[in-house]
Amino acid sequence: MEPAALAGIPTPELAPLPADTVIAIDGPAGSGKSTTAKHLAARFGLLYIDTGAMYRALTLAALRGGVDVGDEQALARLLASSRLELVSGGKEARVTWEGQDVSAAIRTTEVEAAVSLVSSHPAVRQEMVRRQQDMGRRGGVVMEGRDIGSVVFPLATAKIFLSAGLEARVQRRLRQYRQRGQELSADQVRADLAKRDKLDSERVTSPLNISPDAVVIDSSAMDIQRQNEACARACRLNPTLDRLLDRDLATSRRTLPWHYRLAYGVMQTLGRYYGLRQVGNEGKALPRGCIVAVNHISLWDPPLVGGTFMRHRVNTLAKAELFKPGPMKAFFNWLDSIPIRRRGFDQEAFRAASASLAAGNNLLIFPEGTRRPVGRPGPVRNGLGILVQDSGAPMQPIFIRGSYGRMPMGSTLSPLEVSYGPVVWWHGLPALREQLDPKQISRRIAQLCEAIFLDLQAASFARHPQTEFEKRLGAGQAARLEARSRKVFGRS
Ligand code: DC
Repeated sequence: MEPAALAGIPTPELAPLPADTVIAIDGPAGSGKSTTAKHLAARFGLLYIDTGAMYRALTLAALRGGVDVGDEQALARLLASSRLELVSGGKEARVTWEGQDVSAAIRTTEVEAAVSLVSSHPAVRQEMVRRQQDMGRRGGVVMEGRDIGSVVFPLATAKIFLSAGLEARVQRRLRQYRQRGQELSADQVRADLAKRDKLDSERVTSPLNISPDAVVIDSSAMDIQRQNEACARACRLNPTLDRLLDRDLATSRRTLPWHYRLAYGVMQTLGRYYGLRQVGNEGKALPRGCIVAVNHISLWDPPLVGGTFMRHRVNTLAKAELFKPGPMKAFFNWLDSIPIRRRGFDQEAFRAASASLAAGNNLLIFPEGTRRPVGRPGPVRNGLGILVQDSGAPMQPIFIRGSYGRMPMGSTLSPLEVSYGPVVWWHGLPALREQLDPKQISRRIAQLCEAIFLDLQAASFARHPQTEFEKRLGAGQAARLEARSRKVFGRS
């Protein structure tokens, strides 16, 4: 079944997508990911990366070398000391282990029986994810797997979750085996698939699940062509939505109340003074009615991030302690800030925040709820998920770095930078609502936001490596902030 969101999206031409495109395709075994991922790679001129083949190759090597597939450290050592390569070219992608082509050998039932266990070990996953991120960092890839949208590339250009009912997948797998000359019974294939589904979805580290922003496509009743077309259109969904955003800078400036213009101007000057660099924003765009989610490391964050906004009212969820009678209260009221009690659940604040978003205002929040140690973003609290589920508002993630100190540094000690990620649209919410309760969905949204902050941080470190000063500062803060966080939020 095609999701409603694809209804207005035209079938894309063979036109290439931008060079840095990352298409993430996740889903259970037998849902048709490989077929479609290869098709999209050929159609859009991208590199096809099969991450399942990497886990399979390690499994094969372990089985052949007599390594216990339950021994996490032995597997991690085997992976670290071996050469595993994906070779793209022609119609088929090939996999080599220590230079030897194992593309056919990894498709056996012995490997399939053991691969879910091998891929459940955190140490194995950590190294595989690192390699996958290296392969896709520059973009131009279609990557298929189980955790690509949720963990490997949380800011992928397009995320597709391809699902299909068990029976449809059994029939497809039987056909594949037959083509390879293997005869298996439907009962055996059904039992194997059900077991892998269970293991892949229930493991603790990066289980198979729907990322809240993934386009969910159920291919049970689709032939390959329809499935490919639906997925090709899903690749265009975010870019198309982005074009709908109000990016008319001049008009929105004109309609901005004078006190916002004044406030943004002052904050911008502050940023300039301290040498703030902006990445991914270029001072132009902030969509209307969206949640602006910023990591929090310093009291300088609100004015420094505020200086990168040029338009639209931005309301802020600010801690209630700041609204004690006095000049600060007047200032926060002047900028329409919404007070929030951080202990427990402040229903009134969330209602006001959702109403503000619905009215087309932007809402700046610090989803971590309090300042975190430098270099260690997260964890994200449930408030973000509650707001997203209430309002459906898209999210503009922002990562700030270097604002810590009596004065924000902006020096070689700690580069001062505000980086904007792409806007996140919650395509996966309707499907998630059929599977999970609101609290579980909030957790998923929080996990995605955590992964996004880490990804934006990694990109920032790639531009300017983390300094010794930042490392020391973060380590020192960690212990103190843990204690403070317990005091602010209680022991929940
Ligand atoms: O897609 P596949 O059937 O080739 O994947 C083989 C196994 O690898 C699958 O059971 C789960 C695991 N896997 C994973 O855990 N994470 C990925 N990104 C890809 C595959």
